[in-house]
Amino acid sequence: MRQLAAPKGWTQLLLAAPAEPWSALRAAFTAGPAATTRLLDDAGLCGRGGAGFPTGEKWRAVIAAGAAVNYAVANGYESDPAVFTNRLLLEENAQAVVEGLAIAAATVGAREAFIAVRAEYTDGIRRLEAVIAEGERAGVIGASLLGSDRELIIRVRPLQGSSMIGEETVLLKALAGKRGQPEQTPPYPSETGYLGAPTAVNNVATLAAIPWIIARGPAAFRAIGDTAQPGTALVQVGGAVANAGVLEVPTGTPLAEILAAAGGAAKGATIKALLVGGPSGGFVPTQLLASTPYSGAGLHGVGAHVGSGAILAIDRSTSIPEFAAMLTRWCADEACGKTIPCRIGTRRLAEIGQRFADGLAGPADTVRLQELAADVADSALCDHERLTPSPLLTGVRYFEGEFTPPANGRS
Ligand SMILES: Cc1cc2nc3c(=O)[nH]c(=O)nc-3n(C[C@H](O)[C@H](O)[C@H](O)COP(=O)(O)O)c2cc1C
Ligand code: SF4
Repeated sequence: MRQLAAPKGWTQLLLAAPAEPWSALRAAFTAGPAATTRLLDDAGLCGRGGAGFPTGEKWRAVIAAGAAVNYAVANGYESDPAVFTNRLLLEENAQAVVEGLAIAAATVGAREAFIAVRAEYTDGIRRLEAVIAEGERAGVIGASLLGSDRELIIRVRPLQGSSMIGEETVLLKALAGKRGQPEQTPPYPSETGYLGAPTAVNNVATLAAIPWIIARGPAAFRAIGDTAQPGTALVQVGGAVANAGVLEVPTGTPLAEILAAAGGAAKGATIKALLVGGPSGGFVPTQLLASTPYSGAGLHGVGAHVGSGAILAIDRSTSIPEFAAMLTRWCADEACGKTIPCRIGTRRLAEIGQRFADGLAGPADTVRLQELAADVADSALCDHERLTPSPLLTGVRYFEGEFTPPANGRS
């Protein structure tokens, strides 16, 4: 895992440590909750954890819940396998993550805040703890938040378990030491979160953007990237590329430019698609890379999604049906089992995927795939189920030839 050099003109704000540590926290604390959430609205900051929910609105919901005790949580669990964007962020810019979380806590009135990270991210954990200790020594957090009579205790919580822990309702249970499965929402964690109290849960990259936004102003952030969801995002490019690693990309950048920034195809490779969004992501064929922006709406339009920020380049030697079947099996194995349509539906999807991979599927399987994918999406309790059909659906859509067996009369 390494950071790739960004092409000229790409602003690096998540991976650039704040010029004056804690000055954004001071500014937000002085401005107060209403002005701070308005500033995030003006910047257009949306969550980087996958769903893209507006951050200012989420924090206002916590305040509006009107509880005596609130919490703030940074989600650095990074669910998907072989994705390390959060890890790199923690190692390179722990200051921005801790300061962003402190701003969240100060804004929603939390006296205790947590940074949930994978237990194996030992270097990141050390850096987070060093920033917290330094902030306590400097008297900006800890027993007194910036000299006020309010305390702000920030704790790092290393977690280990299934990929479902990254889902916020599971994360909050894991933080409370409980085994968990996703909860039906609403109510959202902003109303009923950690220990039942209103909780602002934000991805670490969402929080890391906030000191920069406060220092440079919302207009500077809005001027970067996609108009609907401005700013930058951490993207991990891997697979058949010349230079695998993490890039900080302006949102809305065409996929072709992201691929070029990773050096294009590896020597001897010919890329036929990018898998965008991790194991439940969508295949985007090369002919669509120039016209597909890396944004929520842009990726949705081609059947993919931002998800974990993973982009995997697929070489032409890879069988899309085989790869899609493997991904679907992984997603079925990871389903927590709480809801029957997901537990059984994702397993059936994996079986259909295997029939395609084995060359045994006929046209009836394509119809069953479409119907089952629609049923699964309709009944989903969490996005895991909703997104699991993506590799097979986009595979069939863009690589139909690979999914169509030789004329054999099967149906
Ligand atoms: C199955 C599943 C796994 C998830 N994994 C993560 C994760 O690893 N990190 C993360 O920040 N959000 C993850 N999310 C999204 C969180 O539930 C939540 O929306 C997010 O942490 C909110 O932060 P944001 O508003 O800053 O994006 C996951 C969601 C689902 C359904
Ligand atoms: S949709 Fe799937 S992963 Fe989500 S709660 Fe239900 S069984 Fe678990």
